[in-house]
Amino acid sequence: MLSDEERAEIEAEMAHFEQKRAACVEALKIVQRRRGWVSDEALRELAPILEMSPDELDNVATFYNLIFRHPVGKHVILICDSVTCWIMGYPRIREHIASRIGAGLGGTSQDGMFTFLPIPCLGTCDTAPAMIVDETLFQHLDPEKVDRILDEVRGQGENGAGS
Ligand code: FES
Repeated sequence: MLSDEERAEIEAEMAHFEQKRAACVEALKIVQRRRGWVSDEALRELAPILEMSPDELDNVATFYNLIFRHPVGKHVILICDSVTCWIMGYPRIREHIASRIGAGLGGTSQDGMFTFLPIPCLGTCDTAPAMIVDETLFQHLDPEKVDRILDEVRGQGENGAGS
């Protein structure tokens, strides 16, 4: 069930638009920010508030790479797998991340700390290879830099500093 806080945030977003459905991406983000992902149940509850059908809202949710329709780990690593990143070292970075977190692409580490997903071009090809961890973009990746990033993110989780 949507919480009072979620409803209030969503209402505030909808107030910016003539049509409630125009706030659908923000509404999905609000739910995801609080729960980590958007379940079928949350989606069914959200759709009528936005004056959409659940199918319409699901189409929007599945279109956006940054809306998760399945449970994910505490932190989400999105690695660019488009052509420039491939040329600039994506396979090596992908394998390095997979071995560091113990989960391949599409998987979640056993401790629930990381989910590892592909994403198309991030629009930063001149600084490839690139990835996003949670909402932060990292560029010019090499294995040493990846190690530092993962250690820092893991440290944040352990210190309760959030993602
Ligand atoms: S191909 Fe990776 S950022 Fe463009």
